[in-house]
Amino acid sequence: MIQLIRGFKDILPGEVEIWQNIEKTARLLFEDFGFKEIRLPILERTELFARSIGEDTDIVEKEMYTFPDKKGDLITLRPEATASVVRSYIQHKMYAKDPVQKFYSIGPMFRRERPQKGRYRQFYQINAEVFGIDSPFMDAQLIFLAVKLFSMLEVTDAKLHINSLGCPKCRLNFKESLSAFLSSATEKLCQDCLRRSKKNPLRVLDCKNSSCREAMVGAPAIINYLCPECSQHFEAVKYALEKVEIPFVIDKHLVRGLDYYTRTTFEIQAGSLGAQNAVAGGGRYDALVKTLGGPDQPATGFAIGIDRLAEITGLRNKDFTQKPDIYIVALGEKSRSLAFEWSCNFGLEGIRPEMDLSNRSLKSQMKRANRLKASYVLIAGDNELEEGSVILRNMTSKKQISIPIESLVEKIKAEIKL
Ligand code: HAM
Repeated sequence: MIQLIRGFKDILPGEVEIWQNIEKTARLLFEDFGFKEIRLPILERTELFARSIGEDTDIVEKEMYTFPDKKGDLITLRPEATASVVRSYIQHKMYAKDPVQKFYSIGPMFRRERPQKGRYRQFYQINAEVFGIDSPFMDAQLIFLAVKLFSMLEVTDAKLHINSLGCPKCRLNFKESLSAFLSSATEKLCQDCLRRSKKNPLRVLDCKNSSCREAMVGAPAIINYLCPECSQHFEAVKYALEKVEIPFVIDKHLVRGLDYYTRTTFEIQAGSLGAQNAVAGGGRYDALVKTLGGPDQPATGFAIGIDRLAEITGLRNKDFTQKPDIYIVALGEKSRSLAFEWSCNFGLEGIRPEMDLSNRSLKSQMKRANRLKASYVLIAGDNELEEGSVILRNMTSKKQISIPIESLVEKIKAEIKL
């Protein structure tokens, strides 16, 4: 038997209803806040991700599904959405009409990480990205939206971590101190970190290797190196969050796995998820639009991992099983042809039908209606049909009535009062 690829998964009925509810709630919330949906390709030029996420990140170095297409151009299955949204903002010159643009997007991402609980090679994200606003209030509103979405979805154990990664000005001094620290810790660093410590020392702070993590416990924190403007910006984000009563912890070691961040960064973490505890992450990326060839426009955003959110949402305790409103028990040829016709019409009238075409006995068809938890059963036996009627059975009260088949759909609709 052909099985699915390691790290990939099917989302089956039973589980998919939770995903549908998450997505529906997110869409409504974002649209209420003026965000527009954007749908972008899953394949992009490799260069787009290499230049935005950063050549020295785990994602670009090790995790991308990259291959040459027939002409030899390198293309990549998107590992995240931000780079594509920026490309699209620039390519369609959206800034010319209005630099301020707010987008949301939902879809699959691909990273060839080592599969484990909560970590997949195809996973799904809900993204929100805002262009043209450098105000800390925008960062705070994005965080507010993410946190509110979590509470609307009855998530109880999520914790907001925030940090600031400053701007290139703050990084100059910070990098110097960090490099000095790293050169005293070389024995404990993995090969990747030894290489990165020279080229891109900030990356070392994000290494998942346990020996590197241990070595970095006493490392300097960028938050202590912020320039006055970045420091003020961060203070304003904190002030705004307090104003709308969003609790947070300051996590000075939060660096995120992508190179494009500046100033505010944040993650929402859930302890119950175990090792892969980040359910959402994001922050400001003020330099990326320009880096990718666009105008100098600030930007900020976040992404929520739907796979992980689906694990911790309170929606898991709800029963989303779709039950038939009416189960048509057909007995005989004529009855089956009428069942077909009625079920087409029931469906269009918002009465969810299930028709039994199995040619089985009344008893076994009733058994199936019971198993599917149908609210009503319509029994169309030959004798009844000859008299021009059918039997409608209420499966809760067990009451049965006879209904004439003339204008049956309307009569049933009135009877079951959906
Ligand atoms: P990220 O932290 O790489 O950020 O991913 C965001 C979320 O996607 C994570 O918090 C996690 O829930 C989920 N996720 C990531 N990798 C996996 C995986 N292998 N399996 C399951 N879930 C996963 C970004 O992608 C940025 N583009 C976020 C952003 C948007 N920043 C600014 N705008």
